[in-house]
Amino acid sequence: MPSRLETLSRVYGPEAWDIYDVLDRSLEPRGREWLHELAADYLTAGARILDAGCRDASDLIRLVQAHDGFGVGVDPVAIHVERARAAVAAASLKERIEIVDGVMETLPYADCSFDFVWCRDVLEGVEPLDDALRALARMLKRDSRMLVYTSFATDLLTREEHRLLERQLSNLTANLDEEQVEAAFVRAGLQVERKDIVWSEFKEYAEERTQPGSRTLLRLARLRRSRERLERELPVELLNHIEATLHWELFLFLGKLQPTVYVLTHS
Ligand SMILES: C[S@@+](CC[C@H](N)C(=O)[O-])C[C@H]1O[C@@H](n2cnc3c(N)ncnc32)[C@H](O)[C@@H]1O
Repeated sequence: MPSRLETLSRVYGPEAWDIYDVLDRSLEPRGREWLHELAADYLTAGARILDAGCRDASDLIRLVQAHDGFGVGVDPVAIHVERARAAVAAASLKERIEIVDGVMETLPYADCSFDFVWCRDVLEGVEPLDDALRALARMLKRDSRMLVYTSFATDLLTREEHRLLERQLSNLTANLDEEQVEAAFVRAGLQVERKDIVWSEFKEYAEERTQPGSRTLLRLARLRRSRERLERELPVELLNHIEATLHWELFLFLGKLQPTVYVLTHS
């Protein structure tokens, strides 16, 4: 058994420096970009694409442009819908992309209307999940694919951290459970054709380029140190939400959340 001094000398010595050097080298992570490469494997020219939870429609616009397709984006938040419509107009795609103000569960499209469904980072907050997945499955053509990116809680997430994330109103504990979500796929008549756990890759990719994680840390540190003052000036529930969102971003780095990509098809 090494003495405490021996251990300290080792931890602070050249052997440890070498390990830090190794950790400074990129593992060549995949970036968000990879999702578009994956989608390209399933998209052909002229495809009708549904973006469920499209936010500003940036992904949908890209998919439609890359595949000379047609798109529908749906989102229930007014500011997202407004921005998405403005982005579609700015890209001169009004003839090809429709943005619907609503939820995926009640989209009025006929069965088998779409050649591809893109659903990135949305299922974590959809309730009831069964209704949403059934609606997507219904609108997806037979032999077509649905790409889902969603994150699950891992065993590293403590009960307290779970509670913290619950403050982020958009996430539901049940939807962060891998088993429950995969069971919901099955109930919706979908099967997993491909599953990739991307862990912190997208985060590492972005951090190696523009350091958004450092900004998240700084924001969280500042929020904590100035909380008392901020609480006098701003709604507490908004601060709680922001605090939880910042944690969410960091948990993706720490393996407390497990971002997972699925390619689904009808079973
Ligand atoms: C975390 S954002 C992700 C947005 C976008 N897909 C992306 O990857 O940047 C989740 C989005 O899903 C939308 N959303 C939440 N529930 C929804 C539902 N039931 N149907 C459609 N969109 C929904 C939210 O308004 C929000 O824009």
